[in-house]
Parts: sequence; C-alpha cells; structure tokens
Amino acid sequence: MDTNISVVDSDAMLELILQSIQKLIDYELAVILRYDGQETLSVTKAAGPLADATLAGYTISLKHRRDLAAILQGRRPHLFSESEDHIDTYADIINLPLNHSCLVSPLVLGDDTVGLLTFDHRMCNRFNPQIIGFIEMISTLVAALLVQFDVSNELIERTARLLSERNSLLASESNAFRNLIGNSPQWVRVLDSIRLVAATEAPVLVLGETGTGKEEVARAVHRLSSRVDRPFVPVNCSALSTSLAESELFGHEKGSFTGALAMRKGRFELADKGTLFLDEVGDLPMELQPKLLRTLSDGIFERVGGEKPVKVDVRIIAATNIDLAKAIQDGRFREDLYYRLSVFPIALPPLRERTSDIEMLALHFLNSIKERTGNSGLHFTEQAFQAILAHPWPGNVRELKNALERAAILAGSGEIRPEHLGLRLYPLARQAPRPSANLASAAERQTAYPGAAGEGALPLQGTIKKRIEEALETSGGKIYGPDGAAAALNLKPSTLQSKMKKLGIQRERFLAPRRE
Ligand SMILES: Nc1ncnc2c1ncn2[C@@H]1O[C@H](COP(=O)(O)OP(=O)(O)OP(=O)(O)O)[C@@H](O)[C@H]1O
Ligand SMILES: [Mg+2]
Repeated sequence: MDTNISVVDSDAMLELILQSIQKLIDYELAVILRYDGQETLSVTKAAGPLADATLAGYTISLKHRRDLAAILQGRRPHLFSESEDHIDTYADIINLPLNHSCLVSPLVLGDDTVGLLTFDHRMCNRFNPQIIGFIEMISTLVAALLVQFDVSNELIERTARLLSERNSLLASESNAFRNLIGNSPQWVRVLDSIRLVAATEAPVLVLGETGTGKEEVARAVHRLSSRVDRPFVPVNCSALSTSLAESELFGHEKGSFTGALAMRKGRFELADKGTLFLDEVGDLPMELQPKLLRTLSDGIFERVGGEKPVKVDVRIIAATNIDLAKAIQDGRFREDLYYRLSVFPIALPPLRERTSDIEMLALHFLNSIKERTGNSGLHFTEQAFQAILAHPWPGNVRELKNALERAAILAGSGEIRPEHLGLRLYPLARQAPRPSANLASAAERQTAYPGAAGEGALPLQGTIKKRIEEALETSGGKIYGPDGAAAALNLKPSTLQSKMKKLGIQRERFLAPRRE
C-alpha cells in the first residue's frame, strides 16, 4: 500500500482509510458521503469491488430517504438485520440481492453531522454487531479528518485567492503609480521613463530636489519590474556613519569587530533578487565607493572581516538631490561610480515647474486625509485653495503634503482656511518662485543642484542655523509630526537631525518651559 501521501491530499487519505478498514471488515462496497447540512448526501469516496463510476458524484436526497435521515439524527451506527425491511442505500444505481449485508454509520464530530459512512456486501450476515463499536470510533476519526480537510482547503483557497489578488494588484500599473499623482506633460514624461526602464535591469539614477518624489519613483520602478515579488531594500547613504557603513551595506562576519557577536547580512544580501535603493547616494562615504563600484561591476563582495566571496543579484536604483557633477569636481564622488549608477537617469521636475499638478495633488492629499481620519466634512475655502495654487512650494510635494496634514489638524472637522496652511512661514510665498525661500532648497543651492539654481543670494550656514532654531522655537523642540520642526522646514526628520548635529544645535534648548 502506498502510504506516501501529502497531508492535504484528502482523496488519497480517504482511500487509505477505507483500504485499512477492509482488513478488518470484509466489505464489497464502502462509501464516504458528505452531508451538506440540509438535505443532501453526496458521495466523496468509494472503495471495494462494487465501487464503480456510477457512484462518482451520486447524491441522495434525505427528503426521499427518511430512513437515512433518522439514522443521521440518531448519530449512532446502524446494522440492518435480515428481517428489517429497508431500501438499499444505492438502490438507483447498484443492484444488490435481497438480504445482503448493510451497515451505515453517521459521521459526527461534536454537535456537527458531517456525513455518512456505509458498508455493503452482497452476502448476508457479513457484518456482526461486535464491529459496531469499532465503526463508531472510526467514524469519529473520519469526521474529524473531513472537517480538517475543509479547514485546510478553505485556507488553501483563501491563500490562492489572496495571492492572485495581490499579484494582479501589484502588476496593475495604476497600483504601481498610485503615489505618483500628476498629469502635467513634465510629469507624464517621468511616468513614461519609469515604464520604459522598469522592464529592464538597468541601474536607475533618480535626480531631483527634496520632496519631489524620488523614493516614490524608485518604488514604482521596482513595482513594475520583474522583481516585484522580491524585496525593495532602501538604504539612506547620508545616514551611514563611515565606521559602520561598510557593515551596513555588505554585512559582517562574526567577531570581525568588537560587538560583532554574530554574522550579519548587509543590505546587499537582503536585497538579493530584488532592488537596492541607494538613497542620497551623493552622501556615500568616499571610503566605501571603491567597494560599491566593485560590487556593482561583478555582483560579488566579501562581508566585513570575511574572505569568502558572496554573490548577489541586485538591481540598483540610486537617488540624489545634490549635483553629482559638482561632487565629482570637488573630489567627493568617484566618476567611475557615477557612470555605473547613471545608466538611466530620471530627473524629477520640481513642483514650480509643473504648477498644473498642484490642484490634483492637493485634492489627492485632502481625500486621503479624509479617508484616513473619517473626517468627511474637511474642505478648502476658496481663499485657501487659491493660496495653495499660488504658493511656490520650494519643498515640493512633501511640503504640500505636510502643509495639508498640519492644516487638517488645525481646521478640526471643518474648513481649511489660509491661516491653517502656515504658508506665512515662507516670506516669498506670494512672489515669483524663488527656491532660496526655503531651507531645503537653500541647502541644495549650496551644493548647486542644477534644478534649484536661480537668482538670489546664496544663504550662509548661519541663515540655515537661524531658520532651524526658529522652527524648533515654534515647535517647542518637537522634531517629528505635522506640527514638528521638520515638517515646518519641509525636511525629513532624519535630515533635520543630521543638520542639527552638523550645526551644533541642541534640541533640549527648546524643550522647556512648556509654551502655549
Ligand atoms: N507625484 C506624487 N504624488 C503623490 N505623492 C507624492 C508624489 N511625489 C511625492 N509624493 C509624496 O511626497 C513625499 C515626499 O516624496 P519622496 O520621499 O519620494 O521625496 P524625495 O524626493 O525622496 O525627497 P528627499 O530628497 O527629501 O528624500 C512622500 O510622502 C511621497 O509619498
Ligand atoms: Mg528621499
């Protein structure tokens, strides 16, 4: 007998059970019927020399078989005696002689009746009353198994359904582009580039000012690529301290340095078969650049403290808001690494160059706030909406998003008015777009990102420091959240923290006393 069956192969399992029973009970037909809980029994498994094709899918209506209905209700096995007048269980399809042997046993588990087990033999007196106890016990086991099959089948079906829904969702373009709102010609060009490059394995370099959507674009490329089912691993190169950066990217072997208590995989290994997103790649420590270049060239590296080569298959997407050409000139970025990374550059236009998208973005963010908070009454007043359209948004989409989050809190359940938007923070709000109006673009101008270059004086470190201090003053030292200093300055909290560190600004100074 083949006992090599998988747990979920219910058919083989039932076959095995019926065959095993035959060793103890000499039947010519054994059938497992499932009960639908109402009035139908249907054949699930049949075994024995009398089992033929006519049984497959055969159903018995309990409305017409009150005798079987009564046995099911009684929940105990029943052995038909010779003198007992009864209709054969399978009278319509199998012709059995008068006085043949017949035993039926309800399949019950707890309060549930899940089916009926029947045994027949053409000869009389083949089954004796002694086996009834045994059959009753077997019936409970079969009932438990059937219930278990139902549960696992339902799980398998549900998993398959979820998987296919997930795959079709992931594959759908609208999903991949769900966070890339805009239909201006400049933005549509970006979406076209994403579509084009996603299908390839080419490294992508996403360029753009702060808050223009570089990370969203990187994620969209991944979602539309064949690597969608594999990980997307982001790593912020500006947050890597030189000492730990190598281990963070490439992992380390146990004992490779003090504190390396176990082997640890780096981001490259975690991203194997997927996508590694090197965010703010322009800030990657110079010491690490040769190793990164080597890894990108042949897909092989060694963990820190190890000699064994590790091979990975990783697609690289890098992003930066600094001018890499200038960084190369200044000796902060390797030219050969730049060429490796920038096989397919995608330059994201700042919001001031696609003003026709502002309205769509504002409504998109308002709707998502309404959905998330259940605050359906939230709306812009006409003046607020005009102020949004007129603002230069130097912090780009992030600034717009943060301004609306903040406004929604201040507006409570009602209308968002101009004063809720906090646009007064920007003295140039109602003038022609000037990137220097904002700290983030001011910082970029110092590193001369071409898209941010324009008229106006270069702000000094002192100005930046003052702006940060002002924002911390206003937020009472709070960095995170819509009312935090990072949001007010349109910076990511981590970026603000690293700037504070560089400029020697201590948050604690702004914490006390509690202000109104
Ligand atoms: N086109 C867009 N549609 C909808 N949301 C967007 C769009 N572009 C950006 N966002 C949202 O704006 C915020 C900033 O985007 P993202 O983090 O991708 O910008 P970034 O260019 O990486 O910024 P940084 O240089 O500061 O890291 C995110 O919350 C993102 O979801
Ligand atoms: Mg980013």
